[in-house]
Amino acid sequence: MIKILTILGARPQFIKAGTVSREIAKYDEIDEIIVHTGQHYDANMSDIFFDEMQIPKPDYHLDINGLGHGAMTGQMLEAIEKVLIDEKPDWVMVYGDTNSTLAGALAASKLHIKLAHIEAGLRSFNMKMPEEVNRILTDRVSDLLFCPTDSAIGNLKNEGFDQFACKVVKSGDVMQDGAMFYRHLAKKPDFDIANDYILSTIHRAENTDDIVRLTSIIESLNTLNKEKQVIVPLHPRTRKIIEVNSIKTEFTMIAPVGYLEMVWLIDHCDIVLTDSGGLQKEAFFFQKPCITLRDETEWVELIENRFNVLAGADKDKILDVYKNFDFSDNFSVDLYGRGLASSCIMQELLKENI
Ligand code: UD1
Ligand code: UDP
Repeated sequence: MIKILTILGARPQFIKAGTVSREIAKYDEIDEIIVHTGQHYDANMSDIFFDEMQIPKPDYHLDINGLGHGAMTGQMLEAIEKVLIDEKPDWVMVYGDTNSTLAGALAASKLHIKLAHIEAGLRSFNMKMPEEVNRILTDRVSDLLFCPTDSAIGNLKNEGFDQFACKVVKSGDVMQDGAMFYRHLAKKPDFDIANDYILSTIHRAENTDDIVRLTSIIESLNTLNKEKQVIVPLHPRTRKIIEVNSIKTEFTMIAPVGYLEMVWLIDHCDIVLTDSGGLQKEAFFFQKPCITLRDETEWVELIENRFNVLAGADKDKILDVYKNFDFSDNFSVDLYGRGLASSCIMQELLKENI
């Protein structure tokens, strides 16, 4: 029996792990233990994904959230270490680049438990992003690195990973698997939705914690909303900052939705404007153009192929790009695999345990 201990805590990790857990369940010889750090805790940021996507309920819930980076990561590290000592898994599996990812990676590495990182090798080359620090450190202590893209493989090569005692595998992107599986289960949300609308999300620290950037993005959405409905399922972090600063919003602001409603919203929108990592790719999966409200992205192949354009946070730039950018509509190109990432990951893990 192979025991895999999965660590997750934030919304995008539930979505990624949901897809991989469904694959793990196909193998009688693998036992999965799920640890939820508690980083995301509102029902519509956490429970809804477990319910709708039929992700197995976490075996451990650490309930650590709402803290600064140091306290959050430190408390998670301590609590995860205790679980690992009790459970003695063969592998720890972490996803992406959140504080939960880094805490899980450090705990595993210090106990010499093998570590698999899903979504390895991504880089924004902006060390001010908490996610960039988390992903670089996690990659460095991982034994098996599952890269979604060729550019992720290239990044690891450039950092000398060929010389390290680890294995780098191009698996494709597990979010592509998820989008293909859940597309047919999409649910129309229950509020007034125009035939043509823009879908937007904002939650990145670099935008929410800089009031000038946040105001400028919101003004651009207010302007766009005059000609087309702008629908924004708003992250609680952003909602709190908008409220505290009394920033005027003139678009359809809704609470975060579950993945099945989100898939419907992506599938039926005209265009996506976002600073989310996951949503940039989902726009591509559902053949929608995307304007990224950041100055750089880890998903460079979307930019290179003109499916996505970086507009930053400047209102005039965002509006100019919206009106004038020449997006590609040749969505047949294979950038993230064809929905086989989860099975590739499990095959590799099994090989490592023969
Ligand atoms: C985290 C990740 C980010 C990821 C995002 C996905 C880190 C450093 N950042 O950012 O990479 O893109 O998750 O959504 O790990 N809050 C609630 N309810 C919740 C969750 C959050 O009210 O269920 C509010 C709290 O005020 C909290 C704040 O949002 O303090 C920030 O949450 P946190 O998990 O620290 O960071 P995110 O911005 O969600
Ligand atoms: N998402 C969702 N409901 C929402 C907003 C986003 O289900 O109200 C999904 C989105 O479709 C994607 C994932 O959450 O699959 C992205 O998570 P997020 O933007 O929070 O984090 P990031 O990908 O930037 O780390």
